[in-house]
Amino acid sequence: MELPAPLRAALDRALDGHSIGALASAGSTLSRRYRAETRDGRLHLADEAAALAYLATRMPATFSAVRRALIETAGRAPGFSPRTLLDVGAGPGTVLWAASDVWQTLDHARLVEASRAIRACGEGLAQGGDLPERVWIDGRAEEALGDAQPADLVTLAYVLDELDEAARGRLVARLWALTRDMLVLVEPGTPAGWGRILAAREALLADGAHMIAPCAHALSCPIEAPDWCHFAERLARSRAHRLAKGAEAPYEDEKFIFLAVSRRPHDGPAERILARPQAGSGKVRLKVCAPDGSARTLLVTRRDGERFKAARRADWGDSLD
Ligand SMILES: C[S@@+](CC[C@H](N)C(=O)[O-])C[C@H]1O[C@@H](n2cnc3c(N)ncnc32)[C@H](O)[C@@H]1O
Repeated sequence: MELPAPLRAALDRALDGHSIGALASAGSTLSRRYRAETRDGRLHLADEAAALAYLATRMPATFSAVRRALIETAGRAPGFSPRTLLDVGAGPGTVLWAASDVWQTLDHARLVEASRAIRACGEGLAQGGDLPERVWIDGRAEEALGDAQPADLVTLAYVLDELDEAARGRLVARLWALTRDMLVLVEPGTPAGWGRILAAREALLADGAHMIAPCAHALSCPIEAPDWCHFAERLARSRAHRLAKGAEAPYEDEKFIFLAVSRRPHDGPAERILARPQAGSGKVRLKVCAPDGSARTLLVTRRDGERFKAARRADWGDSLD
């Protein structure tokens, strides 16, 4: 996946003139904190150096993951045409860019963000895009959502891992209360990220939410540790991205997990592909999450006709109608 040209240009402008050495050094501190899931009361993106490193080393990947999660959500909810967005822990406006790419119906966004430094980056980037009218709300979600208005689409991307367990449960419940139609959560595709999504899934379904994606059902998750549910999105790295990460490869694979639930049922359930398909001559083997609540391997052969053609085209994370 390539970033949309206006976002790529906005990122290039924001990073222009900043030393690659400084971006790389702040990027590796950031990466250490994310990997360790450090929760020491300080925001990871508290200052400008960390915020710029996020633009260089993380935003392209989180954008790709979020956009894919929203595309999969839209695929299961074709009648969903949100006009308003509430995004919490907005960072540099990643969800704003991704959601606007998926739903051109969006005309107003509210973006809650606790770090002044990353919010300033987000406001600057957004000048370069054809994006909905937006209001940035300064502060921690716990206080800033006090008198918030509900929105058609409510999102929380790569934020749960920064909160302790009790705060996560409270925030998910508050976001659901503010959801007019669709709530989408995105987390890193690690076992811990999957665990946080599972906990949110259980609480939201118990609260009457309808499953939209990625699960093919609203029964208990059939996947058992040490396996975990996650997807991957491959994205092209820009020169600044490569240099700031000290990486050679021109692309990276961002692993992520997400959950989309709605106030109302949308499309019927469909199998979801849980791993890279294995294609052989005249056959494709697919690991799927199935509407009957199981996770199993399907063998689709040429004899299956149209289903075989669909299976040949399908990729990890797609749903198979
Ligand atoms: C990893 S970044 C994700 C940014 C963006 N959502 C993305 O996907 O690229 C997490 C963001 O959440 C913000 N954040 C963390 N805890 C928060 C809270 N309690 N209230 C508001 N923002 C919060 C952080 O400052 C940071 O900008």
